[in-house]
Amino acid sequence: MSPRYAVQLFGISKHFPGVVANSNVDLNVRAGEVHALCGENGAGKSTLMKILYGMLQPDSGRIQVDGSTLRFRSPSDAIKAGIGMVHQHFMLADNLTVAENVLLGAEGLHGIGKRARRRIAELAATTRLRVDPGLPLARLGVADRQRVEILKVLYRGARVVILDEPTAVLVPQEVDELFGTVRAMRAEGYTFLFISHKLDEVRAIADTITVIRRGRCVGTVDPRTVTSRRLAEMMVGSELPDPGIREPAAAGREVLRLEGLTLLADGGRRVLDDITLSVRAGEVLGIAGVEGNGQTELVETIMGMRRAAAGRVRLGHYDLTHEPTLFRREAGIGYIPEDRTRHGLLPTQPLWANRLLGHQSRRPLVRRGILNVAAARADTERIVTEFDVRTPSVEVAAAALSGGNQQKLVVGRELAGDPHLLIASHPTRGVDVGAQALIWEEIRRARHRGLAVLLVSADLDELIGLSDSIKVMLRGRLVADADPSTVTPEQLGTAMTGAAT
Ligand SMILES: Nc1ncnc2c1ncn2[C@@H]1O[C@H](COP(=O)(O)OP(=O)(O)OP(=O)(O)O)[C@@H](O)[C@H]1O
Ligand SMILES: [Mg+2]
Repeated sequence: MSPRYAVQLFGISKHFPGVVANSNVDLNVRAGEVHALCGENGAGKSTLMKILYGMLQPDSGRIQVDGSTLRFRSPSDAIKAGIGMVHQHFMLADNLTVAENVLLGAEGLHGIGKRARRRIAELAATTRLRVDPGLPLARLGVADRQRVEILKVLYRGARVVILDEPTAVLVPQEVDELFGTVRAMRAEGYTFLFISHKLDEVRAIADTITVIRRGRCVGTVDPRTVTSRRLAEMMVGSELPDPGIREPAAAGREVLRLEGLTLLADGGRRVLDDITLSVRAGEVLGIAGVEGNGQTELVETIMGMRRAAAGRVRLGHYDLTHEPTLFRREAGIGYIPEDRTRHGLLPTQPLWANRLLGHQSRRPLVRRGILNVAAARADTERIVTEFDVRTPSVEVAAAALSGGNQQKLVVGRELAGDPHLLIASHPTRGVDVGAQALIWEEIRRARHRGLAVLLVSADLDELIGLSDSIKVMLRGRLVADADPSTVTPEQLGTAMTGAAT
């Protein structure tokens, strides 16, 4: 491997009010390697990468690219130095085509005509980023959108590509494809910085792993010799708790019932096609599917955010079909949305105000129509402790929490107040292995108390480990059942693509 360093960071420190996000971090990234960053939620990984990408300015420290010291005042400086970053939340325009998205803002490079298109086609070919440049973005699933984001930074000349949790939204087959791309690009001399909480994946793709703990670099290890267990221990600084064992289901009365639920898209396409299912008290029903097959719409229809063309939604003996979202929540539905930043949190508001979100009219937070701010603060403190949300206080804005810590806050809020039903979309997306075990344990405990759970997850180990039964969704229909006590992730992945039928 090349002894040349593509990127070196020396003594990077970054403080936020009440938080040391990075403390004197050194990082050496060789040209042409895949360098993974691992660490707990809030360890400082995204902050370090945003500094390298010019989005944040360090308090101190130095960045060296290809041997020269550079100062980045903005991402455009970083891009000029050949550094690109793909964020976990994509920043693409739905109403434009793939090619237009790639070109947007970079028209000066090769124009917007033939030359530009040729360049995109070349890049797509050498990097195996197969995606039709003429398609409107709105038609693409997440994996394709991610390809467009990567093409976008490559088009701007990036030779060092930062991927912040790229696999969190992908199913196993898509992860394999992404890794195929990464390997092909590595052979072409590209360098990657790769953040992930999935330690098996990290070991599979990385050439070098750097572990960050509480803002400090605690070591660099060789993925060929380190175990996932050892990695996790380096991340948390102690041994991990054992994952819990599955208890037999003691399912009770029917809590959620969907009958013939059908949802139409604008053109009349059936986004949900005659969905019938039920979830009992004390039962976790898992929904497996490649993203874009109707899971999002299913959840949003149950929550009253979309209007069904036909069918019913029942909660116990309530018919909720025509009720607004707030009514459904008050009837006892907890809701962990798939996109915490869009539907789960008010980023500029303090944590305690976020505790009230969606619970504005429920005791004990509200009494006789008056918000009880002290109760909201106290219950937020409880969540912060029980769910290990790393924050200096409950007064900080939600946007100041790291991705995984935001997720823990949302999960804690939605499990508060003993709901009858929990609709959980990707409940552990972006949380570290320790926090994942904690959230699973809390869901299991609530299930034990009689909570009914509808679980949608792209993490097949999670789906298999938590569910009492699994249904597979494909093109808006429930097409197969799987038994979580016998099915393997590979079998489930195959059923999800429709290849088995
Ligand atoms: N804009 C901000 N304002 C205040 N604090 C911030 C801000 N951004 C990050 N922090 C804090 O800096 C620390 C590091 O956050 P960072 O997002 O880098 O963590 P991370 O390692 O990426 O975690 P995760 O795995 O959860 O994404 C956290 O304690 C976080 O609360
Ligand atoms: Mg992060």
